[in-house]
Amino acid sequence: MTETHAPQQAQINRQHIKQHFSHAAPSYEEAAVLQKIVAERIDERLELTTLNTQTILDVGAGTGFLTEKLIARYPHAKTFAIDLSISMLQQAQPRLQTARFPWLGTKVLCKTAATAINADAYQLPFANQSIDLITSNLMLQWCDDLDAVFQEFRRVLRPEGLLMFTTFGPDTLKELRQAWKQADPEQEHVNQFIDMHDIGDALIRNGFGQPVMDVELFTLTYDQPMGVLKDLKAIGATNANQQRKQGLMGKTRFQAMLTAYETFRQNTKIPATYEVIHGHAWAAPEHMKGPNRNKTGYVEISLEAFSKQTKLKK
Ligand SMILES: C[S@@+](CC[C@H](N)C(=O)[O-])C[C@H]1O[C@@H](n2cnc3c(N)ncnc32)[C@H](O)[C@@H]1O
Repeated sequence: MTETHAPQQAQINRQHIKQHFSHAAPSYEEAAVLQKIVAERIDERLELTTLNTQTILDVGAGTGFLTEKLIARYPHAKTFAIDLSISMLQQAQPRLQTARFPWLGTKVLCKTAATAINADAYQLPFANQSIDLITSNLMLQWCDDLDAVFQEFRRVLRPEGLLMFTTFGPDTLKELRQAWKQADPEQEHVNQFIDMHDIGDALIRNGFGQPVMDVELFTLTYDQPMGVLKDLKAIGATNANQQRKQGLMGKTRFQAMLTAYETFRQNTKIPATYEVIHGHAWAAPEHMKGPNRNKTGYVEISLEAFSKQTKLKK
């Protein structure tokens, strides 16, 4: 595994993220039910593309749910699993060392299946225009400067290379956010998530063309509100601000939040909503490029239309 270092300023924030995910690495697999499903969705969407793919980056690869699928889909490509957390990449190792060839109906040991690289999405250790495909499953919500990340993705992608990603939208964890708002209106306890349109704008600003975005809502259900929190902790998705404020928060407010969350109970179950934003865009030689776009260069089309469009791509 190779290690690279982010600039000092940026590290302060990302140090938290790194710590949370490293801490959660052993428990991640069991709790990351949604991440696994969404990785499958990305794989299904890749089925619709006919991209000539020789070099792939899976950024924020975690334990390799998606990387494993990329290896199977593009067995002849060079695939790299990139993550800020070495511990997550260590958990990913069994997946990265084996390639699944469906036609053989088995897992085959393949020493070049994928290479793990401990690096930051803001500073990818790759040459300009050296990558055909970048995927990223549920990592971008941890990046507070989307412009910087997209600029970096654009730098390493070759022109006409593809970025395909998922991230969380503003309705994610809306029940938990509202419960906290009632219990402790002074503090923000749940991360804020960026709107799909703002993500599309950031793509255009940073040299991507023909962005296509859509949203899928998932509701996970639990017996108790504590179940939601336990799962979030198990996957490392703790609010970066929360740790610092925990001392002041106190048991009473926490209990009040759990009580407020109870009001969302439906059919005996506690819901946790996740708004998953699916997006893809092509690295464009110039910022505004491609058909079907409005003034902002932004395009929204159905999955069916997306399928037709991507099948036309080389
Ligand atoms: C929710 S997990 C998703 C992991 C994996 N893609 C999956 O679908 O299971 C987010 C991952 O992104 C990584 N991550 C967060 N910020 C990152 C950054 N700036 N650069 C690289 N990886 C990052 C975390 O360490 C974590 O492993």
